[in-house]
Parts: sequence; C-alpha cells; structure tokens
Amino acid sequence: MAQKIIIDTDPGQDDAVAILLALASNELQVLGITAVAGNVPLAQTQLNARKIVELAGRPDVPVFAGCERPLSRNLVTAEHVHGKTGLDGIELPEPAVQVQAEHGVDFIVRTLREEDAGSVTLVPIGPLTNIAEAFRRAPDIIERVQQIVLMGGAYFEVGNITPAAEFNIYVDPEAAAEVFASGIPLVVLPLDVTHSALTSADWVKHMAALPNRCGPAVAGWTDFFERFDKEKYGSLGAPLHDPCTIAWILQPDLFKGRHINVEIETTGRFTTGMTVADWWRVSDRAPNALFLREVDRDGLFALLSDRIARLP
Ligand code: BDR
Ligand code: CA
Repeated sequence: MAQKIIIDTDPGQDDAVAILLALASNELQVLGITAVAGNVPLAQTQLNARKIVELAGRPDVPVFAGCERPLSRNLVTAEHVHGKTGLDGIELPEPAVQVQAEHGVDFIVRTLREEDAGSVTLVPIGPLTNIAEAFRRAPDIIERVQQIVLMGGAYFEVGNITPAAEFNIYVDPEAAAEVFASGIPLVVLPLDVTHSALTSADWVKHMAALPNRCGPAVAGWTDFFERFDKEKYGSLGAPLHDPCTIAWILQPDLFKGRHINVEIETTGRFTTGMTVADWWRVSDRAPNALFLREVDRDGLFALLSDRIARLP
C-alpha cells in the first residue's frame, strides 16, 4: 500500500520539484497539499501549489490554504531567492483547479483523525506554522502522526537567512520549537544535506530535453534560482532543498545522519531560529530527531531524473 503523506509547503521552485517528485512516485499517496506563508505570502503560495498540481496532471490532489502569518511574528519572505511570484523562471497558466474551502489546518486535523493512527506522514517544506497550529487546535492528533519528515535547520552549514538560522525555522521559530518538542518521530533534512544537493549544468540540460512539460519546467525553475546561490555562495548549481524530504521517504539509504537532540532557539540575541543540534552528543538531552548530514548526490539526481520523466 502506498505511504500516505500531506505536503505542507510555501512554493518556491524547490518546493515545486518536491511536489512533482511526490506526485510522480506511486509509492506515495499525496492526501493533500497545504500551503503556508513563507517564501512568498499565502495568496501566492496557494496559487503556486494549484499551478503545480495542474502541471503534474493531478488536479485531483486537493490544495488548501493554511496560515497567513507565523504564530506570533511578522512574516519574513524570500523573494530575493525565489523571485516575486516564488516560482519565477517559467510562466504557468492560471489554474482551473480551485483552492479548497476548508482551512489547511482543519484539513490536517480532520485527516489525522479520519485515517488510521500512525498511517500518515507529514512533510513540511516551509515554515512550521500550519503544523504547530494543527497541534495547538487538536492535541489529540499528535499521537496519530506516523512521523514528520521536514526540510529545515542547519548545524555545520549554520544559516542562510541570518548567520545562525535557516529560513524555514527562522520564519516561525515558535512553531518549530513546538513541533520539535512534540515527541513525534522527526526526520530533519537541514542545509548540511541540501547544500550538497546541487543541480549540475548537465542535469538541467537533461531536464530541459525531456519530451514532457514537467522536465523543461524543472529546468526553468532551477535555472532561475541557481543564480542566487551562485552569486551568494559561489555554489556550482541550485540546491534542491525540499525534494530531499520526498527522496528520503522513497530511498532513505541515500542519506546518512545521526539520531540526536535538536532544540530550537527562540530568544537568542543573534541566534533566533537556530537549530541547536547536539551532533557530538555532549548534552544529556534526549534524542528527538534523525538529523541527516550527507546525501548520495548522484543517487538523488538519478531518482529525480527517473521520476520527473514519468510525468506529463
Ligand atoms: C528553505 O527555504 C526556502 O527558501 C526553500 O524553499 C527551502 O524550503 C531553504 O532554506
Ligand atoms: Ca520551501
């Protein structure tokens, strides 16, 4: 039976590739996509999510709008990385598929109550606002979550939005702190992994040449947002942060990490949003996350090539 997942997202070009990878993989059943404010405001992220499901030929996958702002802070966005629309790089048509009337947080709560306990994995690839809000509204669902596989944080790579913090955690550190303290099994794909998941010029060319519409779309997106990382970090390509979550569910052997304690800094003078990862196990705090550090890059891109080619 396919693994049931909910993707919680703020697309974002790399979010878009993650969603395509999931929709292309018949090992997975995407129950729904919940949009959250992050890379760009909510009005844009829910619109982008609808464009992506249509691009993938999957208008049957419902898209929900979740929270408009972090639990207790003003929204910080990342148009400087992803462009004004969040999906700059290609033009996609206005989607015919409508956003669902139900709030994204209510969808998460309802689904976790309706599905068998321990059968649904949450895959947050944006700020953790919707997930934390769902746990606040319905604490009974916490023990029903199978696991959370999220993109966020950094330890050895430190930060990409402040010197100490990764974007998804920084935008809503209170939400992240609640999720990391929930007791749910957590799998964390931090910048330490995703900064190795860099596209190559050859791979982008290969995507552009696929005889479908999704391959060239992936090429257009990565072409756009690799500019930022090349200029800022001198990277060789675009980091496909968010697809690492779906890739871990499909092929966990591609990744290596440690089961350790990870705490979220919410009140630091310079370090708010930092993921304080006890990689060296120097504290006596109990492990709460599988914190990944390495990825088999060639294996990851082979998986992506194989799956994106299956799409329309
Ligand atoms: C994360 O932030 C966003 O810009 C990306 O979509 C990814 O989820 C990387 O820090
Ligand atoms: Ca994202």
